Amino acid sequence: MKAWTLADIPWDRFDPAKVDPEMAKLVKAAAMVEFNGGDYAVYLCNVFHDDADFQAAARDWAAEEVRHGEALARWARLADPSFDFDAGFRRFTEGFRIPLEATSSVRGSRTSELIARCIVETGTSSYYSALSEASQEPVLKAICRNIAADEFRHYKLFYDYMRRYQAQERPGLLMRARVILGRLWETRGDDELPFAYYCANREEFGAYDRRASGRAYSRRASRYYRPHHVERAVAMVLKALGIRPNGRLGLALAALARRWLASESARLARA
Ligand SMILES: [Fe+2]
Ligand SMILES: [Fe+2]
Repeated sequence: MKAWTLADIPWDRFDPAKVDPEMAKLVKAAAMVEFNGGDYAVYLCNVFHDDADFQAAARDWAAEEVRHGEALARWARLADPSFDFDAGFRRFTEGFRIPLEATSSVRGSRTSELIARCIVETGTSSYYSALSEASQEPVLKAICRNIAADEFRHYKLFYDYMRRYQAQERPGLLMRARVILGRLWETRGDDELPFAYYCANREEFGAYDRRASGRAYSRRASRYYRPHHVERAVAMVLKALGIRPNGRLGLALAALARRWLASESARLARA
């Protein structure tokens, strides 16, 4: 499939009257995280230092993530001409660092690294699907639709390599579950999204407070998810674990995940 470029986006259809300013805040933050993809390629190439095939795939993948950042940043500037992406991105990369010097996965093994990447791509694919469906603004809708398609493909890329490394490293189900829970927990506790949200929307905050900024981000983001996004994401996580979504364990875990998500949304709504 031929990769899309910024020239494929129908920029001339931009309709300022249909911009949702709350969604624009999320787009500004997402632009920063995506644009930082190049650093992740450096990290992944270090971790997979003797796998030239994977390194090439990781570089192509990162180029797509950077393109996501460019498209989102360009849209954000249309939606809010006062938005200074470069200054925000500088702040973001000064404060948030990917472990570029690591020579092995910070997650313990290559399989674990690839499972963690599957989880991230699960998150991004459902996120951009949700934004694309919820956006009334036609250009943002088109951008998010293109990005979501890429993110589903990225999941498959990391999943296929994961299966290959799994056959060599043979991690047990418990270990795989630990990586997934760890990654989900990390998403809740790590700095990347809250800090990107803060750097992109400085006017909303005083000094940086991870919890406040994380809550502000999650409260806005969770508004756009619909049950079918969650269902699909749960199935993708189960697949990465090697559990059949329609099997007894899969169905039980999916029910548990739905309950957890419902309580999370209630907590965010209360906050
Ligand atoms: Fe992306
Ligand atoms: Fe991706």
